[in-house]
Amino acid sequence: MDALSSSFLSSTSSKSLLISAVNPPPPPLPPPSSPPLLSVTSVRTDERPPKITTTTTRSPPSPPAQPSPPLSSLPRTAPPPPPPPTGPRRDTSLPVTIFSALDGLINNFIDPPLKPSVDPCHVLSGNFAPVPDELPPTDCLVESGRLPACLDGAYLRNGPNPQFLPRGPYHLFDGDGMLHSIKISRGRARLCSRYVRTHKYSVENSLGMPVLPNVFSGFNGLAASAARGALLAARMAAGQFNPANGIGLANTSLAFFGNRLYALGESDLPYEVRVTPDGDVETVRREDFDGKLFMSMTAHPKVDPETGEAFAFRYGPVPPFLTYFRFDKNGKKLPDVPIFSMVRPSFLHDFAITKKYAIFSDIQIGMNPMDMIFGGGSPVGTDPGKVPRLGIIPRYAKDESEMRWFDVPGFNIIHAINAWDEKEGDEVVLIAPNIMSVEHTLERMDLIHALVEKVRINLRTGVVSRQPLSARNLDFAVINPGYVARRNKYVYGAVGDPMPKVSGVVKLDVSRSDRQDCTVACRMFGPGCYGGEPFFVAREPGNREAAEDDGYVVSYVHDEYRGESRFLVMDAKTPDLEIVASVRLPRRVPYGFHGLFVREGQLKIS
Ligand SMILES: [Fe+2]
Repeated sequence: MDALSSSFLSSTSSKSLLISAVNPPPPPLPPPSSPPLLSVTSVRTDERPPKITTTTTRSPPSPPAQPSPPLSSLPRTAPPPPPPPTGPRRDTSLPVTIFSALDGLINNFIDPPLKPSVDPCHVLSGNFAPVPDELPPTDCLVESGRLPACLDGAYLRNGPNPQFLPRGPYHLFDGDGMLHSIKISRGRARLCSRYVRTHKYSVENSLGMPVLPNVFSGFNGLAASAARGALLAARMAAGQFNPANGIGLANTSLAFFGNRLYALGESDLPYEVRVTPDGDVETVRREDFDGKLFMSMTAHPKVDPETGEAFAFRYGPVPPFLTYFRFDKNGKKLPDVPIFSMVRPSFLHDFAITKKYAIFSDIQIGMNPMDMIFGGGSPVGTDPGKVPRLGIIPRYAKDESEMRWFDVPGFNIIHAINAWDEKEGDEVVLIAPNIMSVEHTLERMDLIHALVEKVRINLRTGVVSRQPLSARNLDFAVINPGYVARRNKYVYGAVGDPMPKVSGVVKLDVSRSDRQDCTVACRMFGPGCYGGEPFFVAREPGNREAAEDDGYVVSYVHDEYRGESRFLVMDAKTPDLEIVASVRLPRRVPYGFHGLFVREGQLKIS
């Protein structure tokens, strides 16, 4: 399931949870001195496929978007407007026309009233609205400060950007993956936004209409679910879509291993992408690693920076519910390790590695295919009677014979931040945000709260101990990538206000053991300004003597008052995460999921 990445993040009213130990946040950015120039409050209202531009030449900034009427002002039964003169034409063959008409019948007459969590008028409001098309490489304005030399490379952030305006139910996780890449070279920056050319995207783009039902929202009531299932079967029988070529959205994250850059979504194989020297982003292929990778792979593989190996897994609704595997430093996939001791299908979005172990979570969020089909609910649901547990397996295991599970009541994690070994391997330490009130995970992300914890598992005694590190609502947390799998000190977490909106970044010192809040630095973006997942870029990645926090925290930030997006570079060592460079982007970047910085040298070999 794709975007599950983003979502299970939390939130709550964090203002009441500010900790006294926190360094006082800097004064907020001043509010706009003039009335808002552009308040993006609606989604586009046409059904136009994006204009696919293949040029890689330097282009002027796009003109300001024309405001559209709010989606909520349109009747759901409104006929779609005529197709625009540009972009791929809609396939008007008889089968395609019939299927499209049936789809319209389901949307307009069979679907029950939409809940807010799957109502596109709600889900795609504000800066969650998709951008209307792709953006070729476009020069940006460095409006303050200077871009440090260590940022030569590209920062890419993945996220959902539905190719077609949904006419029926739509969940935040359901959009086609779009990569927003800022390519930096010698202090200059260019922004490029491109869809990942998944199989689903390509088929739907060529037909000029959606074909696959949305995974998280498309099954909406028994009658509508049955109708959508039958329609999809008919489309497959007619040769319109072959699921064997991939059903995923590649909308969740990115990873770089084996000298290749991948866009990832956990319901499909990785899609290899590349950033061209002039800043364009191209999809290379759907990668099955010489036929050795089947069906799907997590969107959160872990790369050991010292060995170059990548560790990953897949999970699903049929046994084995979890399968662990790894890649060597050249990107060669090694044999699967099926985990049959995972006895029920569980939502397993992320995991962690140490130098000796891989750590999996078995949480109270499980997969509910029957409920989805017969109850019209989500494919993912919660089981409050289940005791969450952590499973630890040697990271080079060839089978699960040495895997051990440890009950950790109340510990429901969606993301893991880092893990390491202590006491000569007798103890494993895991840092992760624990999701409070997991029952709200899918439908009310604004009601859940993520509490970053340090969990210590003694493999000799079986004792599990836990330490909360901050009371703030933090997720989308990252570390210096050079410290994956080994003991680290600093974590940079996104402040949910509420999630999935991010109002700032907090730096934690997780080495503290004095039961105090571990926050040591904070940067709030200011009124009306929201960012996303931060990413840490080391100033001297090859210098092992460099301090762990010697580098920069980067993120896209959107100003909802002005309708403007920026790329911010913050000094990670300063107590207020001082902004050392601000890049005005030529077009807004919608809120999204996970990102990755890829250095210039890596771009050249990928
Ligand atoms: Fe994620």
